[in-house]
Amino acid sequence: MQWGMGRPRKTEEMYMNRLHLSLMIPAIVLTAISAPPLIAEMNIDGMIKYRQNVMKSLAGHVGAVDRLVRGQVPLMDQLEMHATAARDITRTITTLFPAESIPPEVEFSGATVATEALASIAEKPDEFDKAAQATIDATEELAKVVQAGNKQELPLAFKRVGESCKGCHKDFREKKE
Ligand code: HEC
Repeated sequence: MQWGMGRPRKTEEMYMNRLHLSLMIPAIVLTAISAPPLIAEMNIDGMIKYRQNVMKSLAGHVGAVDRLVRGQVPLMDQLEMHATAARDITRTITTLFPAESIPPEVEFSGATVATEALASIAEKPDEFDKAAQATIDATEELAKVVQAGNKQELPLAFKRVGESCKGCHKDFREKKE
């Protein structure tokens, strides 16, 4: 084949590339104009729902670990995934409770969805952080035990995770009767 001679051949591939480009540029411009800003202003209802979603996802992973640790499911190769996901999620807990989204401020911030977060979070921030750290430590330990393949220590490590969740809920989450 000879390169640099005459006009390049318009192969089908080149045509498709141009077509893609001409379609893509307006698409990118349109997305940039219409997409919501990446750094959105906080929507209080959204924030409350978000943390409830995150908490539910945490409970989902911990519940999956429970089934596996009890030997009810022959999918032990998925244990590490759930344990590390739970650990990664717990590392975000302290970011989920901005003042405007918890009592007392939430009363005045226009929230229309219910939250079970208690005023004690704002009153005792150090204890709240400590409670979050206890869950971070417990899930880190669980992930380590799993990664080490240490089956004997699994049930105890799992139990400690559950206790740490309760430790925070007891003081900082409204009790449901
Ligand atoms: C540092 C405190 C803290 C820790 C640690 C914590 N939670 Fe929570 N959790 C809360 C608070 C506060 C709420 C109420 C949030 C709301 O309603 O706005 C909550 C809510 C929940 C909910 C209900 C979500 C919904 O749909 O309303 C679930 C489920 C949950 N947590 C599971 C867990 C599990 C499982 C763990 C441990 C692995 C855990 N939490 C650890 C503070 C904590």
